Amino acid sequence: MNEEKVCAIVLAAGQGKRMQSSMPKQYMELLGKPVLYYSLKVFEESAVDEIVLVVGAGEEDYCRREIVNKYGLKKVAYIISGGDERYLSVICGLSVLRGCSYVLIHDGARPLITVDLVDRTIEEVKRYLACVVGVPSKDTVKLINKDRVVTSTPNRKYVYNIQTPQAFSFELINKAYKEIVKRSDITVTDDAMVVETCMDMDVHIIEGSYHNIKITTPEDISIAEVLLGKNCI
Ligand code: CTP
Ligand code: MG
Repeated sequence: MNEEKVCAIVLAAGQGKRMQSSMPKQYMELLGKPVLYYSLKVFEESAVDEIVLVVGAGEEDYCRREIVNKYGLKKVAYIISGGDERYLSVICGLSVLRGCSYVLIHDGARPLITVDLVDRTIEEVKRYLACVVGVPSKDTVKLINKDRVVTSTPNRKYVYNIQTPQAFSFELINKAYKEIVKRSDITVTDDAMVVETCMDMDVHIIEGSYHNIKITTPEDISIAEVLLGKNCI
């Protein structure tokens, strides 16, 4: 019997400003189905036990009807509304979880996630308690200062582009988020940095996939359709 419950928080409460579309990007169609459907389907087929779907206020019924019920996604246990920033939506998701040992936090705007990668993430989080999916940076990265002058060039061997899922022991991430909200000096851009900042715990990297793109700007829709259509993820 699986005594360690694994939950997933799928985030879809953003406004998609960079997409410049009247419809939020998570509901735009990819090969005839909404962007959000794809990642929910993958979590449904993975070893995750329960899914919390976080959506914009007032979008709960639409999501239940047009995505969760329509496609028979049985693991979605909660559909709740999120906050004005991504990290606030994560806090909303964490607040409804009960009896959860591990939590995977995923951007609903990443439809090209695979069951294999989710299941590998679950194995790794059970071992390391904090881990994030990422890929080696193909580009050289430079740090600059406020005058736009380069201050250093990190060794590319050690530079990763971070994706989701990001996975943690529930106790660890819940505590870390409770701490971070007390800090007004920090802009939270991913979940791992909350652990890095507030907790004495190493965050491990899981080798991800260059196909696991985030739908952010209009050309990403065409790119995702090509990747999905070729089924080459
Ligand atoms: N997200 C969320 N709640 C927010 C902001 C973002 O749940 N207040 C979710 C988005 O729906 C998305 C993921 O977090 O699945 C990653 O965020 P991002 O790609 O930045 O999406 P948006 O914030 O919607 O887009 P933009 O920044 O262009 O407005
Ligand atoms: Mg955003």
